[in-house]
Amino acid sequence: MNIQRTTDPSKIDFKEKFSLKGKVIVISGACGLIGRAFCEAVAQFGGNVVVADIPQAQPEKLAEDLRKRNGVECIAIPVEVEKKSSVIQLKDKTLETFGKIDGLVCAHQNKSHLKFDPFENICEENWDKVIEVNLKGTFLLCQVIGSYMAQKGSGSIVTMPSTYSVVAPNQNLYEGTSLGCPAAYSASKGGIDALSRYLASYWANKGVRVNMITPHGVWNNHEEQFEKNFSRFSPMQRMSYNHEVAPALIYLLSDASSYVTGSNMLVEGGWTVW
Ligand SMILES: NC(=O)c1ccc[n+]([C@@H]2O[C@H](COP(=O)([O-])OP(=O)(O)OC[C@H]3O[C@@H](n4cnc5c(N)ncnc54)[C@H](O)[C@@H]3O)[C@@H](O)[C@H]2O)c1
Repeated sequence: MNIQRTTDPSKIDFKEKFSLKGKVIVISGACGLIGRAFCEAVAQFGGNVVVADIPQAQPEKLAEDLRKRNGVECIAIPVEVEKKSSVIQLKDKTLETFGKIDGLVCAHQNKSHLKFDPFENICEENWDKVIEVNLKGTFLLCQVIGSYMAQKGSGSIVTMPSTYSVVAPNQNLYEGTSLGCPAAYSASKGGIDALSRYLASYWANKGVRVNMITPHGVWNNHEEQFEKNFSRFSPMQRMSYNHEVAPALIYLLSDASSYVTGSNMLVEGGWTVW
């Protein structure tokens, strides 16, 4: 992109900087709690969305809704992010349809079906699955689509670590609930954080920016006791909503963040500040 060489802010259209009009954004885990808000926000800002998720998540339905509501081009491409052939297909089909990719958002996750098992009981199979989908999936998306961006000389990548790659889970949070946070999840997210910083530096001179969004406690009809516990430990004394996370994505995908790379935008209500 061409950055205007000026010290005169009156020459700048600041609203336009946030526009995603005409941009093509691939979102993995698009049908999830946060993914859905990402898709909607990107479409409202004029972006064309590639709704990428596993077939069971019914990405076609979401793509159709987005098209109807926002009048932008949206397509669904089923993907299993941990399989390279599937990710290559995602890139190829997107390029066949749109001819380019401007943004990549890695918003998928797997916590495994035994996600709240205590550390002592985590089996290798579950550990491997979480690392495979979360970390390897992010690696493959960045390798396949990020390399394409580096070759064309522009692109914005947003990955998603977690508060639990920044700090450890406070075990008191789960008292009186059936919830918890598995170690494999934290470990996979720590890997995503390190990988994202690595790539931010690796591709900085290729026009590809790599940033992270770290949400926290996004409300999804949680158990009442969990919400109470959460409010006690949170500086803002409440959980967040998926639509509070999405504006950060618009900033990071758009030209508004043209000088931002390697940053981890915490949308966590101050959880890690005390
Ligand atoms: N919800 C939170 O409070 C929170 C907090 C911190 C970080 N995060 C991170 O934000 C991201 C989005 O979270 P969410 O709450 O929307 O999660 P979610 O579980 O609601 O959605 C995850 C999506 O990933 C998809 N997915 C699962 N396996 C996949 C695979 N193999 N290939 C492709 N897609 C696959 C699922 O179908 C689902 O649509 C995740 O990376 C998560 O770890 C969430």
